[in-house]
Amino acid sequence: MNIAIITGASSGMGRETARRIDEIYTDKLSEIWLVARRESRLQELAASLKHKTRIFALDLTDEKAVSEFDLTLNLVNPNVKILVNASGFGVMGKFTDVYAKEHAGVVRLNCEALTKVTHMVLSYMRRGARIIQFASSAAFMPQPGFAVYAASKAYVLSFSRALNEELKDRGISVTAVCPGPVDTEFFDIAEKNGTNFHFKKKFMAKQEDVVNRALIDAYHRKDISVYSPAMILFFVITKILPHKFIMFFLKFFK
Ligand SMILES: NC(=O)c1ccc[n+]([C@@H]2O[C@H](COP(=O)([O-])OP(=O)(O)OC[C@H]3O[C@@H](n4cnc5c(N)ncnc54)[C@H](OP(=O)(O)O)[C@@H]3O)[C@@H](O)[C@H]2O)c1
Repeated sequence: MNIAIITGASSGMGRETARRIDEIYTDKLSEIWLVARRESRLQELAASLKHKTRIFALDLTDEKAVSEFDLTLNLVNPNVKILVNASGFGVMGKFTDVYAKEHAGVVRLNCEALTKVTHMVLSYMRRGARIIQFASSAAFMPQPGFAVYAASKAYVLSFSRALNEELKDRGISVTAVCPGPVDTEFFDIAEKNGTNFHFKKKFMAKQEDVVNRALIDAYHRKDISVYSPAMILFFVITKILPHKFIMFFLKFFK
């Protein structure tokens, strides 16, 4: 049975990716598996898709829930054509202004859960399969005021690019998606402590455009997907200029 697995499918770019995969992979998939905590949202999405779906309303930071998901994979033994890891969050604010528990939660979901899910699902992937990992342009350099989130996404980017190389022999590609700010529910959580990056929001992209670019880049088996000229320019600048200098300069653009 050929399937797609999408985490973070209850909102934003995960949900948009599920919708696009539903349209694009018309004859290639038997089922689309949707993962996130909010069951009603997943049901709403499932009802709007043409493909048969399975809903996994679970917290990816809960080891027991993840083990149960692993068990289902084991029982069904599917052929996973595409895995999309879109579950993720961040909390803005100075490091000491945010609870340690929240920082740990970011690392657990963005790094640990993504790594576990990728490892688990890879056992069910064959030649030609694709993995899409939602990193961020925050991965390109350290971000004071969003330090743990940026570090977690630097992990996702580094891990994904290395894994892409490792999996070449198996004919499986990994694309790290690195958008700048995207208009989703992400900011409801990111700004909950009152910190707001007005400057960043000037570069706000639409989720449809970011997801389209990501799917095209994954189709071409690119290791990294960066949407919009502004973010491509930011990527290049972070490769050329010392990060210390950029961090100093960005202090004046909040
Ligand atoms: N929006 C941006 O500006 C932006 C920019 C660059 C990168 N990104 C990254 O892109 C990805 C998608 O973000 P988005 O913008 O689409 O944000 P979003 O709308 O807030 O979506 C985040 C998704 O993660 C799921 N999630 C959160 N905690 C979870 C948990 N413990 N277990 C399982 N699922 C969980 C949420 O579902 P439930 O709440 O139902 O569990 C939701 O479906 C994230 O990795 C984010 O870091 C976002």
